[in-house]
Amino acid sequence: MDAIERLVAERKFSAVIVSGDLTQRARAGEYQCAAVFLRDIERHAPAIAVPGNHDVRWWLAPMKVGREENLFGAWSRYLGRPIEPTLTVPGVTMVGLNTSQGITPRTLTWNMRDLSVIGDLRDEQIADATKRFAAAAAGDLKLLVLHHNPVRGELSHRHGLKRPARMMQALAATGARVVCCGHDHEVAIHFVEHASSGTIVSTAGTLSDRSRGGRPSACNVIEVSEREIAVETLGWSHASLGFGTTQRLCFPR
Ligand SMILES: [Fe+2]
Repeated sequence: MDAIERLVAERKFSAVIVSGDLTQRARAGEYQCAAVFLRDIERHAPAIAVPGNHDVRWWLAPMKVGREENLFGAWSRYLGRPIEPTLTVPGVTMVGLNTSQGITPRTLTWNMRDLSVIGDLRDEQIADATKRFAAAAAGDLKLLVLHHNPVRGELSHRHGLKRPARMMQALAATGARVVCCGHDHEVAIHFVEHASSGTIVSTAGTLSDRSRGGRPSACNVIEVSEREIAVETLGWSHASLGFGTTQRLCFPR
């Protein structure tokens, strides 16, 4: 975490995207640490953050029994941030959507370990993202931020998001050229082709010792120019005690 804070201080990013799971069990102390982390990040760059499945107090309203606003009570109280934020910096409009909805009739599964883990998006959320992108300045890159990965992880063999094929189409139809997510604990860069063009999906790795396959912690850096979008993966090195480039892919705008 020290290294990532150093990276943010040194690289002077236009924005920092935190795609969720800021906590392990949505506990007060974990949220306090997350609040300090975001505060320190925002000394250097504006941040956009969306909740992950671990950040939801799903047991307060399982199956919509109980007050749904309690699910994100701690998020609001400790972070003081919306769960579906919009962040605009020169040239880029970022729209956050909450895919972490706890246990609902739509995310029910026979696999007990997946209860409260599966990601979901409702049609209203897609419509709302489309509306927020429509208000973006002409020529802005449109970037969606969500927690659950819509593309299958290479090691996990799993999609985080329910109905991934349908969702991928819906995400592209919002106008988003780039989708940033996390959840899978394996860093990845994908290009998903579809009829009109294609969507770049940047899956952040985890900044913890819970990476899949014993791989190093990693994050992605996105560079946007007039002509191209470059996504670079920075992996942690124990030898240098810092992050170094492990891959860099370029895509046309
Ligand atoms: Fe997650």
